[in-house]
Amino acid sequence: MHTSIDDERPPQVTHSSPAAAREYTTQDAWSWSILHAQYRTRLMTNACEAFVEGYFALGLDSGRLEPMEDLSLRLEQACGWRLRAVDGLVAHSQFVCSLRDRVFPVSWSLRPPSSLHFAPAPDLFHDVMGHLPLLVNPTYTSFLAEYGALGVESLGSSEVTEWLARLYWHTVETGLVRERGTVKVLGTAIATSQSEWEHAGALQTSRRAFDLGAVFDCPNDDSKVQPCYFVLHTFDRLRTLLSEVRQHLAAPSMADAL
Ligand SMILES: [Fe+2]
Repeated sequence: MHTSIDDERPPQVTHSSPAAAREYTTQDAWSWSILHAQYRTRLMTNACEAFVEGYFALGLDSGRLEPMEDLSLRLEQACGWRLRAVDGLVAHSQFVCSLRDRVFPVSWSLRPPSSLHFAPAPDLFHDVMGHLPLLVNPTYTSFLAEYGALGVESLGSSEVTEWLARLYWHTVETGLVRERGTVKVLGTAIATSQSEWEHAGALQTSRRAFDLGAVFDCPNDDSKVQPCYFVLHTFDRLRTLLSEVRQHLAAPSMADAL
């Protein structure tokens, strides 16, 4: 899921269950099968362990385009998170509120056949195959829920909201992580896009060690492949990352800037 920076009004969000199943077409099922085959190869090649474990734990390896109700129920049974069906971009305020409440927004729409390799707009494949696997990892979901809580607390500051959006982008969407001496894919935008995957793999000089200040200073553009990718030293860094963010924001030099 990608978000748009919106106004800073407190969110009024209700987390209803997924609506009645949308009728997916034969074309959708064909696109899904093509996307899944490429994705599976990428995942088995170089995704982080938590990604692969969640993929199998949720039964996403079936390769079937499943009703969102079924996915939400399976997710809730596995980890307590639920899905909320949405149309396209979600406003930042609603997004962080959902994460805080352990509800993940998922787009109904599937990318068109002409854009299978790269979908700048949020789509069903990205949200399901990119985000769901990691939602069964407790370290990851604690990070996401805490990110949501901090996001809600920070809605009064457009500057902090922008920094948090960059943090999300450079970890959840396009992050890399070091595991057993090699660099693995953590970011959902890389895992679900053949173009982003090839770009991230080919341009190894564009990798930067994860640094909070550098992340906050690095704008993101989700309409194209990334100019650089941040590498977390370990997956467990997610356990302490939001505490580091809070300390960073509370530092006198940062507090004065707000
Ligand atoms: Fe996403």
